[in-house]
Amino acid sequence: MTLYMIGLGLGSAKDITLRGLEAIKKSDYVYLENYTSTLPASRETLEKFYGKEILLATRDLVEKNADEIIEAAKKKNVCFLVVGDVFGATTHTDLYLCAKKKKVEVELIHNASIINAVSATGLELYKFGKTTSIVFEEEGWFPNTPYEVLESNQKHNLHTLFLLDIKISEPSKEDLLKENNKPQLSRYMSIRQAIEILFKLEKKHKKKLIKKDTMMVGVARLTQPEQKIVYAKAKTLLETSLGGPLHCLIIPGKLHFVEEEFLEQFQK
Ligand SMILES: C[S@@+](CC[C@H](N)C(=O)[O-])C[C@H]1O[C@@H](n2cnc3c(N)ncnc32)[C@H](O)[C@@H]1O
Repeated sequence: MTLYMIGLGLGSAKDITLRGLEAIKKSDYVYLENYTSTLPASRETLEKFYGKEILLATRDLVEKNADEIIEAAKKKNVCFLVVGDVFGATTHTDLYLCAKKKKVEVELIHNASIINAVSATGLELYKFGKTTSIVFEEEGWFPNTPYEVLESNQKHNLHTLFLLDIKISEPSKEDLLKENNKPQLSRYMSIRQAIEILFKLEKKHKKKLIKKDTMMVGVARLTQPEQKIVYAKAKTLLETSLGGPLHCLIIPGKLHFVEEEFLEQFQK
C-alpha cells in the first residue's frame, strides 16, 4: 500500500495533475493539509471534484500524530494533499521520512509552488536568494529574520521573496466529525501590513535597506483568475490595496534589463 504525497498547485481544484487525481481515485483515505496555505476552493468543492471524502489534517495531526496517517498507509492507499507543492516552502519531509522509516511506500506527486510561480513577475528564479517569512507581531515576538535575510540577499544582488503569515483556525475534534466543516482562513497578512513591519525593522536596525522609494513587487492570488501583481515604490504599495488573500512580497535585487522590461507591465 502507498502513501501518496500530492501537491495541489495554487490556482483552483483543477490544478491537480492527472497523476495526482488518479492516485486520489484509488485511495481509501484522503487527507488535506491546508493550515500552511489555502486553495480558493472549499473542502466540499474539492470532494465533488475528486469524488472522495476529504479528511482535514490539522497541524496537530501532522506534527504530533503523523502515525495515524502512516499506520493507515500500511494497509490502505492514503493520500496526503498539500496546497502548492508537497516540499515547496513548507516542507513535509518529516512525514516522508517517518513513513520511510516505517517501511511504508511513499510516492511524491509534485505541482507548482509559490516558490516557482513567482516567476510570473518576470524575475529570474535563479536569481532569488533565501526565502523568508514575515509573521504577525505578537507579545515579545518580533523576529529580525526577514531583515537579516534581505541584507544577506542584497549583498549578493539576489531577489528576496517574503512569504506572509496566515492563521487558519483549526476545527476541534468534534467539529471534524460534523458535516460541512471547513478550515477558516481567520487572518492573513496583506502586502501593506508586511511593508509596515519591514519599515519597523528598518527603524530598529537602521541599515537603509528599506526606504520609501525602494522598488517592491506585490503579488496577490497568484495563478488564480484574479491574480494581481504590482511593481511600485514601497510608499505607493503602502497605499495600494491588492484585494483578498493570499499575498506575498518581493524585493528585487539587481535587475537584468529583460527582468526590468517584464516588470514594466506591472508598474504603478
Ligand atoms: C507556506 S507558503 C506555501 C507553501 C505551499 N506548500 C507551496 O508550495 O506554495 C504559504 C505562503 O505563500 C504565499 N502564497 C501561497 N500561495 C500564494 C498565492 N497564490 N499568491 C500569493 N502568495 C501565495 C503566502 O504568503 C502564503 O502565506
